[in-house]
Amino acid sequence: MNAEEILALQHRRFATKHYDKTKKIAKKDWQVILEAARLTPSSLGLEPWKILLLENETHKKALFPMAWGAQASLEGASHFVIILAKKNITYDSDYVKHISETVKGHPYDKNSKYAQKLKDYLENDADLNTPRALFDWASKQTYLLLENMMMTAAALDIDSCPIEGFNYAQVEKYLATQGLIDLDEYGVSVMASFGYRDQEITPKKRRPLSEIYQVIK
Ligand SMILES: Cc1cc2nc3c(=O)[nH]c(=O)nc-3n(C[C@H](O)[C@H](O)[C@H](O)COP(=O)(O)O)c2cc1C
Repeated sequence: MNAEEILALQHRRFATKHYDKTKKIAKKDWQVILEAARLTPSSLGLEPWKILLLENETHKKALFPMAWGAQASLEGASHFVIILAKKNITYDSDYVKHISETVKGHPYDKNSKYAQKLKDYLENDADLNTPRALFDWASKQTYLLLENMMMTAAALDIDSCPIEGFNYAQVEKYLATQGLIDLDEYGVSVMASFGYRDQEITPKKRRPLSEIYQVIK
């Protein structure tokens, strides 16, 4: 991709408000978007996320009043996802052991030098000492996954919308009562929709570089 194409892709991705509900994303394209999500980088390689693809119309209808920012997407998008962030990733958690041993192929002992370094990082350097701080740390990382999915979609000429416009407590409660989320393990981080637009791409309005970029010499 050359410089012009890279920038054209940035303008191509835009937060879609109106979808063409008759157009569905092809299975093979959706798999590419999911693979981009899977390959997203994460702090310490801990991949603190899970993606729920909501296909069920009853659940979509139930979420509608709780999610003002998602209503157009719930009605028109081809694919609607709820991105969860993993809770309580502590150095001595079963989750860290699982990632280390199953995903990375390294035995994990919470008394090892590596585990103690991880403990020091999480508890001292990053000050992640409350369930909320740990959740927010995981949640920040889900936004990388979100962006990766949206940019991959744009590269495939697929539209998307990131969504924070919903009541977190209500959505979590609904998903939990439906048995769709274990709130001890995951919390809702952000939502997103994907599909094909039924509107023109809106031109970008952004602050100038001089306001957001400073060189320190
Ligand atoms: C984290 C995040 C949450 C957002 N939440 C919503 C939302 O709930 N509903 C919506 O229609 N747009 C939402 N947006 C879209 C923004 O309004 C949009 O990205 C911004 O105005 C810039 O426009 P652009 O994405 O088309 O460049 C959200 C964007 C981000 C990054």
